[in-house]
Amino acid sequence: LITNVTLRRVLDSRGNPTVEADVTTESGGFGRAAAPSGASTGEHEAIELPPSEAIANARDLAVPRLEGEVYAGDQRSVDAALHAADGTDNFSEIGANSAVAISMAAAKAGADVLGAPLYQHLGGTFRGDRFPTPLGNVVGGGEHAEEATNIQEFLSAPVGAPSVTEAVFANAEVHAEISSILEERGVPVNKGDEGAWAPPIGDDKAFEVVAEATDRISDERGFEISFGLDMAAAEMYDGEEYVYEGEPNRSTQEQIDYVVEMVEEYDLAYVEDPLDENDFEAFAELTERVGDQTLICGDDLYVTNVERLQEGIDLGSSNSILIKPNQIGTLTDAVDAIELGSRNGIESVVSHRSGETEDTTIAHLAVGAAAPYIKTGTVAGERTAKLNELIRIEENA
Ligand code: PGA
Ligand code: ZN
Repeated sequence: LITNVTLRRVLDSRGNPTVEADVTTESGGFGRAAAPSGASTGEHEAIELPPSEAIANARDLAVPRLEGEVYAGDQRSVDAALHAADGTDNFSEIGANSAVAISMAAAKAGADVLGAPLYQHLGGTFRGDRFPTPLGNVVGGGEHAEEATNIQEFLSAPVGAPSVTEAVFANAEVHAEISSILEERGVPVNKGDEGAWAPPIGDDKAFEVVAEATDRISDERGFEISFGLDMAAAEMYDGEEYVYEGEPNRSTQEQIDYVVEMVEEYDLAYVEDPLDENDFEAFAELTERVGDQTLICGDDLYVTNVERLQEGIDLGSSNSILIKPNQIGTLTDAVDAIELGSRNGIESVVSHRSGETEDTTIAHLAVGAAAPYIKTGTVAGERTAKLNELIRIEENA
């Protein structure tokens, strides 16, 4: 039984305050977790409140429904209590940041009570031994860096790696190789919010550099390393066109044709948010054209929401969904989205946010829910926290 929920403000990786929760149980179980925070947030995401407001409201409304009322190991009841305390459909009362921190801290306390690792508590003892392939952000711009690429993220995708550990190191090597290539070309190397290189070059040059780096490391390592993109196209869309700095804007049809061309030219393994977050139909046209060669993933399109995902399934909008627990507010909602996806042939990519903490819950969620991919950066400390946890989980599983 949960006996105490403590909420506080801590720092995230951008130096902003975020919500951290501690959950303690009667039998001595303990869990601690912190909410991440996005910069290129989807318009349909659950609401992140200023941390002090989220904490005050959660103390008033949610904590009394948890302390002495719910078992930490009973995740669905914990998350149902959070929804009941909030009373809205987007966590605008207690804040999705308070909700997700409490939800994840309760899961850790539940695992602690069981004496089981978190991934096993979340996935159950009969879960398969599928491990997620890490997608590593190596070059980017958009809302994550000034004066850099239009495309938000170029992601190393070590699809042929024999293990998570090999894949994690390969992504770090691709990241390092890119800085060498940029240096050779005399391009200054800054970093974006997630630790990816944020060079002042056009998207076309970035494609070349990332292709060269992934090819080189793939040859050295002896397994296939592809790459992919998060275009975060909702941030580019002005209501009529996709706005590119330094090159002509694209209409929706031109944007679809451009993505098809890049998928074919670079054999892309993955393309996230290639189109606006409300354009389920354009997503469907793109998926129809290249869905058999690559993953077309909806992030801002779905915001980890089962109703939006169901719409995408009905229309054939994508073959993949990004899973961010803080977009929807609880682990239960996130797992429901993963399961609805997997019942319908939609691959899940469990994801960090651009603002992160040392919290490692998403590594356990990806393994527990048998998600085929995890997107959690490459080298920055708040990213390596998750990657190193995956290495440990692989060793122990
Ligand atoms: P965000 O970006 O965390 O800034 O929203 C990550 C993403 O778009 O996947
Ligand atoms: Zn995204």
